Amino acid sequence: MPVKPFRHLIPQIKAQWRLFSMGIVALLIVDVVEPYYPLALKHAIDFIKLKQSLSPITQWALIGVLITVSIGVLQYGWRMGFSGMARKVEYGMRRKLFEKLLSLPPAYYLKHRLGDLLSRAMSDLSTVREALGFGLLTFMDSPISMAITLAFMIRLDWRITCYSLLPLIFLPPLVMTVGRKLRTYSFSAQSALDQLSQTATESFRGIKVIQAYGVSKEEAGRFLLQSKDYREKNMTMVRLEAWYWPLISVISGCARVSLFYFGAERMAVDSQFLGSFVALNLFLDKLILPIMGLGFSTNQYVRGKVSVERLNEVYDQAAEINDGPGAAIIPGAPLLEMQELSFAYPAGPRVIHECDLSLVKGDWLGLAGRTGSGKTSLIRLILRLDDPSSGRVLLGGADVRQWELSALRREVGLVMQEPFLFSETILENIAFGDAEPDRAEAKRWAEVADLHDFIAGLPEGYDSMLGEKGVNLSGGQKQRLALARALYIKPRLLLLDDAFSAMDTATEERIVSRLKEALPDTGVLLVSHRSSTLRLCSQLMVMEKGSLVEKGSHEDLMQREGFYFEMVRREQLARKVGLAVD
Ligand SMILES: Nc1ncnc2c1ncn2[C@@H]1O[C@H](COP(=O)(O)OP(=O)(O)O)[C@@H](O)[C@H]1O
Ligand SMILES: [Mg+2]
Repeated sequence: MPVKPFRHLIPQIKAQWRLFSMGIVALLIVDVVEPYYPLALKHAIDFIKLKQSLSPITQWALIGVLITVSIGVLQYGWRMGFSGMARKVEYGMRRKLFEKLLSLPPAYYLKHRLGDLLSRAMSDLSTVREALGFGLLTFMDSPISMAITLAFMIRLDWRITCYSLLPLIFLPPLVMTVGRKLRTYSFSAQSALDQLSQTATESFRGIKVIQAYGVSKEEAGRFLLQSKDYREKNMTMVRLEAWYWPLISVISGCARVSLFYFGAERMAVDSQFLGSFVALNLFLDKLILPIMGLGFSTNQYVRGKVSVERLNEVYDQAAEINDGPGAAIIPGAPLLEMQELSFAYPAGPRVIHECDLSLVKGDWLGLAGRTGSGKTSLIRLILRLDDPSSGRVLLGGADVRQWELSALRREVGLVMQEPFLFSETILENIAFGDAEPDRAEAKRWAEVADLHDFIAGLPEGYDSMLGEKGVNLSGGQKQRLALARALYIKPRLLLLDDAFSAMDTATEERIVSRLKEALPDTGVLLVSHRSSTLRLCSQLMVMEKGSLVEKGSHEDLMQREGFYFEMVRREQLARKVGLAVD
């Protein structure tokens, strides 16, 4: 079965069927009523000429007013119908897109550039809206109003109609060809704009590095070059449109001249033709718009279809991580277990090899290892930010793939080395995801994370804004805030991925002892580069090239004289010569 390009769009349009049908009905009535104005004019002129009297003029004028007003009312109807429908569909599509993007796994964002996703969310959706609103409207209206107008013209005088239509034959191919060209140009202008916004985003994100390395000029140069490229592509479009519109005026002007010429000829022999002549002129003007409209809507259709297909790519993106059917902690089972766990990133080598471990509630497991040995990758598997290539991760005795993602993430708290904070208040950052932030809870966990005193010292306390317009936190404060956020959900399992790296040893020890007191049943998997931190754990493991190569207590590992032993010795040496280890 061929994949239908409008599969995601049609249900959205169907949901707006009321507005849509209102638009169509209003449009049809306008198309039928409109020709009566030129016709009424013709009859009035004929009458005046024949009877040499102005007596029924008020009557005719009234009919004219009636037609004009009802057309006005109906125009309101189809504008509301089509534009309203298009706006609502755009809204629905955008909401769906955003929900989809939020559900996609982190791996998706590694493969797709942010600028590209943003342009889909903004300009592609606008294109679809335009195609749906004005495009669909002209597409439905043009053939109908053309046919009706033509029928009236032919009834008035078919020969003069034919003559005056001759120049208009050139209109559709012109509109189509130029439309196609414009589309190509606007496409390349769009991708130039994407490029430009990508560069801008990257520059602003990396502004500190750019300035620190003194390469602002080079960056500005790159931006300027892309700006010029964007300008040139738009200029091509401007040049094309600059002769396109005059040409259309010339063609329609020729049609008018032709009508005038043959009409005048006829009037010379038949003075009663004046009324029809005036009506024909009005009809001709009504004909030019739909002819252009046909070409225009074909282009809108093609543009809209390209955008719809770009959007479909996102809508159809399989959530690589699927929600499990649901699971719960099985009493008595270890809190966390890994069984022969292996993992490779897409198209990459294996980074986790056959790892086994077990952690019971209240237990602290310390994980050490060189940068790049796979510690973070291992942690990601627990939260199902990735799924393993083989082997299993069990939480409370149930495979994490059995858990509902939302439930899983309620049980497991994660603090990363470089936490992400939102530009919201401190309270909202701690109570993240909670519709009704609990102030007392937030304070309680900020105390455990050793951040309460700092927050209480701020003029606005927990309501202080973070980010550009608010408080700027140090690296260690950010880590502590992220810890408070992870604790707020009272996790059964806490994953600390180098989460104390920006704090001094004393703060770290204070936090750990408070944590053990506040959440005695929570199991903790702690990644650290410092033996002082690792010593607070009851069991230790060392990861090397994706394998867990050393396991045991501090004493066990010291006896093995492996990586852990070396680490401890290096720290002792550093302390001896007076170097800070932190
Ligand atoms: N998103 C990714 N895609 C591909 N390879 C990755 C990705 N993230 C990490 N890696 C690779 O996986 C290995 C383990 O990295 P990581 O788990 O971050 O180690 P650690 O946390 O111990 O420093 C490294 O070789 C790294 O290059
Ligand atoms: Mg890491």
